[in-house]
Amino acid sequence: MSYTPTQDPLLDIAGKVVLITGGSRGLGRAMSLHFAERGARVVVSSRKYDACHALVQQINASGGESFARACHIGDWHELDGLINDVVAHYGRLDVLINNAGMSPSAPSLLETSETLVDKIIDVNFKGPLRLTALAATAMSATGGGSIINISSLASVRPTPIATAYSAAKAGLNALTRASAQEYAAVGVRINAIICGTFDTDAAAGFVRNPDLLPTVVAPIAMHRVGMPHEVVGAALYLASAASSYTTGSFITIDGGVAP
Ligand SMILES: NC(=O)c1ccc[n+]([C@@H]2O[C@H](COP(=O)([O-])OP(=O)(O)OC[C@H]3O[C@@H](n4cnc5c(N)ncnc54)[C@H](OP(=O)(O)O)[C@@H]3O)[C@@H](O)[C@H]2O)c1
Repeated sequence: MSYTPTQDPLLDIAGKVVLITGGSRGLGRAMSLHFAERGARVVVSSRKYDACHALVQQINASGGESFARACHIGDWHELDGLINDVVAHYGRLDVLINNAGMSPSAPSLLETSETLVDKIIDVNFKGPLRLTALAATAMSATGGGSIINISSLASVRPTPIATAYSAAKAGLNALTRASAQEYAAVGVRINAIICGTFDTDAAAGFVRNPDLLPTVVAPIAMHRVGMPHEVVGAALYLASAASSYTTGSFITIDGGVAP
């Protein structure tokens, strides 16, 4: 991998400071690598510092610039420190990708515990809400920025085995629209990517199970699941000047799921 910032002014993100939660694995890892490849200064964050640090070492060894910062997104009180450290390190924050998420299923609604609901809401909704407020405030001090929420098709097509997750991501969609209204005046654009099924650890239970895969891909027009790098183009668009008049919007990436 070589690190050559693009010369295309519309998609140029060279020098931008980009914080990616859940940046160590799956979709977040793909965005960390591709954004760094295009010259962005990437802050890779997840709960496990060592995993973030390993990726940062790989990026920096290839000529990119990044640093690792552990943070549990579900812990409200850790979030001020995360944003403060990014701003202390780079002097600004240009792009936040609220990507960290978890989607445990429950056998039934009755067997969905309060603990599980709290965990799902904390990571998929509450953390992104607080981070949006903190990041938008920091961004407004330097002329604005872009916040990208990684949502799920489950937010608009809820399924019984993931009721709490579907509701949390629907909440993330509402947060996207409402916060876009609130922060447009200070130059912060807030959009979401609605993901279909991608081949990551989170979906390994069904996308890497040959017995289940045919059922998973049946409603997908392209008849396959997405690969992590296939989320990058939309994220790059939303992070860059190419989307300068886009806020409170949603881009669906699902290989064409039947309506
Ligand atoms: N894969 C899909 O099919 C799919 C479909 C729709 C939407 N999505 C959404 O896409 C996003 C990324 O999912 P993925 O499939 O890439 O998942 P993944 O492969 O399981 O990776 C999740 C990432 O988030 C981090 N993370 C998990 N819990 C965290 C927490 N409490 N605080 C901070 N970091 C945390 C993980 O690192 P640590 O373990 O080190 O914390 C890891 O870096 C999620 O929001 C997910 O809901 C995925």
